[in-house]
Amino acid sequence: MAKTSMASSFAAVLLDESSSVALYRQLYDRLREAILIGQLPPGTHLPSTREMATELKVSRHTVFNAFELLQAEGYVEGQIGSGTFVARTLPEELLQARAGSQNISLVNPEARPVSQRGKIITRTQIIERTGLPIPFMQGVPALDEFPIATWSRLVAKHWRQSPQELLNYGRADGYAPLREAIAAYLGPSRGVQCNSDQIIVVSGAQQAIDLAARILIDDGDPLLVEEFCYGAARAALLSAGARLVPVPVDEAGLNISVVADSTSARLAYVTPSHQYPLGVTMSTSRRQALLDWANRARAWILEDDYDSEYRYTERPLPALQGMDRNGRVIYIGTFSKVLFPALRLGFIVTPRDLVDAFVTARATLGWCSPTLDQAVLADFITQGHFIRHIRRMRTIYAERQAVLIDALEHEAGDLLEIKPADAGIHVTCSLSNRIDDRAVSREAAELGVVAQPLSAFRVDESVAVRSGLILGYGAYNIRQIKEAARKLGTALKDVSRVARTSANRRRASQ
Ligand SMILES: Cc1ncc(COP(=O)(O)O)c(C=O)c1O
Repeated sequence: MAKTSMASSFAAVLLDESSSVALYRQLYDRLREAILIGQLPPGTHLPSTREMATELKVSRHTVFNAFELLQAEGYVEGQIGSGTFVARTLPEELLQARAGSQNISLVNPEARPVSQRGKIITRTQIIERTGLPIPFMQGVPALDEFPIATWSRLVAKHWRQSPQELLNYGRADGYAPLREAIAAYLGPSRGVQCNSDQIIVVSGAQQAIDLAARILIDDGDPLLVEEFCYGAARAALLSAGARLVPVPVDEAGLNISVVADSTSARLAYVTPSHQYPLGVTMSTSRRQALLDWANRARAWILEDDYDSEYRYTERPLPALQGMDRNGRVIYIGTFSKVLFPALRLGFIVTPRDLVDAFVTARATLGWCSPTLDQAVLADFITQGHFIRHIRRMRTIYAERQAVLIDALEHEAGDLLEIKPADAGIHVTCSLSNRIDDRAVSREAAELGVVAQPLSAFRVDESVAVRSGLILGYGAYNIRQIKEAARKLGTALKDVSRVARTSANRRRASQ
């Protein structure tokens, strides 16, 4: 039987009593490995032999022997028994191992194997958006405008009054009053047709995408995505084993007719209200064509409606889910953009025959979302704060977007094309393909501005490059937007100048 422990919280140690390898030797191997990979840095004070023996439920003698061997080889120094430290001067082998990660795997290739899926997950790139948002980091709402006083009053009320059952594990499908509040909001505002028992509360849209992929996708299944596509969704779909099939997006949104007759895909992931990242809205006829395809192909549509609460032009088109007569659409909503992302609350509206599968899968992914947060959010919605917040923010965001567009046109209007976005909290501007958007992004970063390159969202690397920048404006005040636009203008001019010079040189040398 294996014994596990966090020996004084710095070395996860796993010893196998049934192994033919002596326990002291196993302990030596584990500690040596922890030292080699830097988990136990030089100078770390190891627990006493008595403490470690108690922790691991082995004899003190076992620990003593392991320490003695480590000391003989120069990995630890000091007084065994009371004051043992990881050596400050490392043996040559250790220095070599530190020099490159390839060497680390030579230490014990079997020590940390990950699955094929684990390897796919390890390869995915995650873009961090932590801390205070930096202009024009996208996907972040105006954190400074969130009604904290109202929220904290509701939090205090719930902590004061909550019955004990709210402290127990919650329901996997979510806190009932919240699901009812969401259902009541979705009908009139998004045209979604559902009852509260079709709603499952999750930790944001990301978890919803992950859940849907786990439930509906087998390894190697083709899955339709928009070209270009939201990176974190792509990562979750790939991690579930899907083979992504990009479908072109134009001014009317995803064009299913390009692949409809040739694909055997059973799932399509789409952002019809506000295509991410291009920003277009899917037309009614394209929506109908997509639904017709799904119905014919007996496929599912995963509708990610991540930021459509903010719409600046005509009345919002109803969600695909509301047009669906055959129960083919799984609708995803999130409170990350409309309230704040750290809340980690979103929801899925599933067709009735999928409810059980989603609820069970939600339970396997950590049971439920925090019940007290759900209770606070339910009150926030039913007491009218939610709608008031949306109305107020729509005016603020419309102004921020207009200021960003004006400022960029003023700073670098000849180098980019920027059209107002109908919805959401980001705009996507196009650059001439002569200008490498990744170079602009790098240059902007040097000046302290985040400008994500559109080309990073391409699914099919063989598709023609389309140069552009995705700029979030929701989280920044007017002064920040103008200042960052000026810096971005400088970055654009610099990169364009370099591109022009090298093009001239090429022409001259031909
Ligand atoms: C297209 C898209 N979907 C979903 C999300 C939201 O994810 P979550 O609800 O997990 O914060 C984002 C956030 O950036 C997004 O851009």
